[in-house]
Amino acid sequence: MRQKLVAGNWKSNGNSQFVEQLLGALKAHSDQVPSEVEVAVCPPLVYLAKAEELLRGTAFLLGAQNVSAFEEGAYTGEVTASMLKDVGCQLVIVGHTERRSLMSEEEAQFADKIRLVLQAGLQPVYCVGETLEQRRRGEALKVCREQLLAGVAAVTPEDASRLVVAYEPVWAIGTGETASPEQVQEVHACLRQVLRERFGEQADLIKILYGGSVKAANARELFALPDVDGGLIGGASLVAEEFLAICKAGINA
Ligand code: 13P
Repeated sequence: MRQKLVAGNWKSNGNSQFVEQLLGALKAHSDQVPSEVEVAVCPPLVYLAKAEELLRGTAFLLGAQNVSAFEEGAYTGEVTASMLKDVGCQLVIVGHTERRSLMSEEEAQFADKIRLVLQAGLQPVYCVGETLEQRRRGEALKVCREQLLAGVAAVTPEDASRLVVAYEPVWAIGTGETASPEQVQEVHACLRQVLRERFGEQADLIKILYGGSVKAANARELFALPDVDGGLIGGASLVAEEFLAICKAGINA
């Protein structure tokens, strides 16, 4: 059985004081986190080292929100996968819709990033998801399938089990609108099938997270779906009490 994973994507929020407060609160109540649920936090890049220090000795995992598509070298402003590994990260979000739409990043870059992340010994959390227009045109499954296949182009079957996929419908991110359980399960089952075609039985080890307006109030229903292995949480991950309640929803879900 796949272990549930709940990851908080803080996006570009917070400052040093906020990092101390939020991680302090999570640590103080870590007994509320069920041992069978893996929990990760993904603070902004500049706070990763500080977060690592604050989380040392706890079960919380540390993730980055982005990574360079290049290895070490003359790439001003870029941070490599091996640097993220060096500061204590275990996970890296790749291909978030905000990077696709606001930073014009594309699948070829995501494929490079995923390859380098795996090579550095980290786990990529690769995000896919359709826009509202694409869903209305009946293209949701096609879009997600194509994004997934393009992103994992360089992943070998041996590395496949370290991959994490996140389905984040663009229309459900930060809008308060969650995809219905039926919509979520349909896309997750489709993604699982694509992974089976691509990686064989390794596909059953790959976690597929749901992201998009997940809250304590809807997490349990979503996490209980057969192909949902946890969540990628935006806004609700910035509030300790709410995030911990979402983590708890991973138990026996
Ligand atoms: P919200 O939970 O704020 O909708 O954001 C989801 C998300 O983008 C996580 O990566």
